[in-house]
Amino acid sequence: MQPSIRRKSHHFSSFTAAAMKQRKNNNLSVFVVVFSVFLFGIFMYNEDVQSMAEFPFSWPTSPEAAQDPNPTTATAILAAAAEQGKIKQGSDEIETAAQEAEVVEVVVEEEEGDDDDLDDVELPPEDCDLYSGQWVFDNETHPLYEEEKCEFLTAQVTCMRNGRKDSMYQNWRWQPRDCSLPKFKARLLLKKLRNKRLMFVGDSLNRNQWESMICLVQSVIPPGRKSLNKNGSLAVFRIEDYNATVEFYWAPFLVESNSDDPTMHSILNRIIMPESIDKHGANWKNVDYLIFNTYIWWMNTFAMKVLRGSFDEGSTEYDEIPRPVAYQRVLNTWSNWVEGNVDPNRTTVFFSSMSPLHIKSEDWENPNGIKCALETAPVLNQTMPLEVGTDRRLLAIAANVTAGMKVPVHFNNITRLSEYRKDAHTSVHTIRQGKMLSPEQQADPATYADCIHWCLPGLPDTWNEFIYTRIISRS
Ligand SMILES: *[C@@H]1O[C@H](CO)[C@@H](O)[C@H](O)[C@H]1NC(C)=O
Ligand SMILES: *[C@@H]1O[C@H](CO)[C@@H](O)[C@H](O)[C@H]1NC(C)=O
Ligand SMILES: *[C@@H]1O[C@H](CO)[C@@H](O)[C@H](O)[C@H]1NC(C)=O
Ligand SMILES: *[C@@H]1O[C@H](CO)[C@@H](O)[C@H](O)[C@H]1NC(C)=O
Ligand SMILES: *[C@@H]1O[C@H](CO)[C@@H](O)[C@H](O)[C@H]1NC(C)=O
Ligand SMILES: *[C@@H]1O[C@H](CO)[C@@H](O)[C@H](O)[C@H]1NC(C)=O
Ligand SMILES: *[C@@H]1O[C@H](CO)[C@@H](O)[C@H](O)[C@H]1NC(C)=O
Repeated sequence: MQPSIRRKSHHFSSFTAAAMKQRKNNNLSVFVVVFSVFLFGIFMYNEDVQSMAEFPFSWPTSPEAAQDPNPTTATAILAAAAEQGKIKQGSDEIETAAQEAEVVEVVVEEEEGDDDDLDDVELPPEDCDLYSGQWVFDNETHPLYEEEKCEFLTAQVTCMRNGRKDSMYQNWRWQPRDCSLPKFKARLLLKKLRNKRLMFVGDSLNRNQWESMICLVQSVIPPGRKSLNKNGSLAVFRIEDYNATVEFYWAPFLVESNSDDPTMHSILNRIIMPESIDKHGANWKNVDYLIFNTYIWWMNTFAMKVLRGSFDEGSTEYDEIPRPVAYQRVLNTWSNWVEGNVDPNRTTVFFSSMSPLHIKSEDWENPNGIKCALETAPVLNQTMPLEVGTDRRLLAIAANVTAGMKVPVHFNNITRLSEYRKDAHTSVHTIRQGKMLSPEQQADPATYADCIHWCLPGLPDTWNEFIYTRIISRS
């Protein structure tokens, strides 16, 4: 890391701060243009796909990485497999090992560990605040699945395969202050999802969480009994044995916008129709669990462009209105849609709060950092004031709208706990415009690190643990 790179990122930081301060004057043109171009740069490379590369920095080697990856004795295999909760997958080596070692009871015990009843699952009290607490290192129970065992992960999120050397980011468990999250059991969740549809609706962060949810449930389903199909804005993961689906619907603003194409949507000049939701909404009807979000696409300009007329009529003129005003209008449209179209006796609705960015390492008092790229541990000192630039005005609006609805909406309040996770982003171990970052790009995190999206396994698994808790708590 040359000093010049550091200086560049520092300039951007002061620039952001200055831009934030200037927000109230409506004299923003220069700031907005430069700031938008920069953020556009960030967003442009968020979108999908493959290849492989080594990250050339020297990351600290973790204890896990030092472990023998190929234990040879039957007991070692069993111990390793039991540790990872994988025995019940019944892979050939493991079954053979079990027979040779004559410790079949271990297998039976493991199966009981992932059965589908609530017997050894302690549910938190209804009124426990799950979102106030702390991150604790727990490599016994986390990660909840292994990166290489989930074939459905896209190259955007497979950080280890993409060259990340430290793996502790997978080992943190969220510990609520006044209760505990229930043990995760894939079969118990699947039993609740039998003959049901679960759908994430929103932007690429909700897609990140959808990929996590697929991995959380897929390990207990044999090959050939699960499939992933994409058709336009809708992607459907189907689980045959349970007649269940885990779906994702792309709608980054929830309402209609010029960014609704699920693949070609990297548009600088984003324009929305804040009162138009029915076209998207038609795809959300008769879903049993709906999980909405919308945030990151709002963040590239201080004003939002609102179309006069409609895209169908070919309108192109727009007005610019302040971000929170537009956000309120969109959430009002969304809440009216939910009230008018969701039967609360059938459907459970969630709204996820803002997924934070970590683009300025001074925010967590690491002046030698480069965005999120050098971080290997969460912020653990909660007395340290931490502001990473989340627009809390939008959070307040979302909390207010969801709390005032007749259809109950679970506010998945992930913002604060995610702000601590500076270590959990994909950083340079990801793709940009469909291609894996080149070694040269990986060596230049000040320009290329993605500090928006998250590695899997990782933080979005915790977001899903909250969803899981709600789903299994209601019968
Ligand atoms: C969200 O959770 C944080 C703690 O993580 C808490 O301080 C905040 O008040 C909560 N916000 C809402 C709207 O529930
Ligand atoms: C968990 O972490 C501890 C402390 O770093 C280490 O001694 C132990 O080997 C780890 N266990 C696993 C299963 O990785
Ligand atoms: C399968 O699930 C769908 C909802 O996803 C439901 O409409 C249908 O009735 C289910 N089929 C059976 C045979 O239960
Ligand atoms: C894709 O979706 C469209 C419109 O929703 C539908 O008409 C079409 O049959 C779907 N295609 C497949 C292959 O499912
Ligand atoms: C939901 O169920 C309750 C009690 O079973 C019933 O009184 C109510 O009308 C139902 N609501 C809707 C929207 O169907
Ligand atoms: C936590 O942060 C506070 C405020 O920045 C500081 O005073 C305190 O020494 C820190 N505690 C630890 C254990 O580092
Ligand atoms: C939402 O905000 C409005 C206006 O500030 C206020 O009147 C209302 O009570 C709030 N609703 C909730 C549920 O907090």
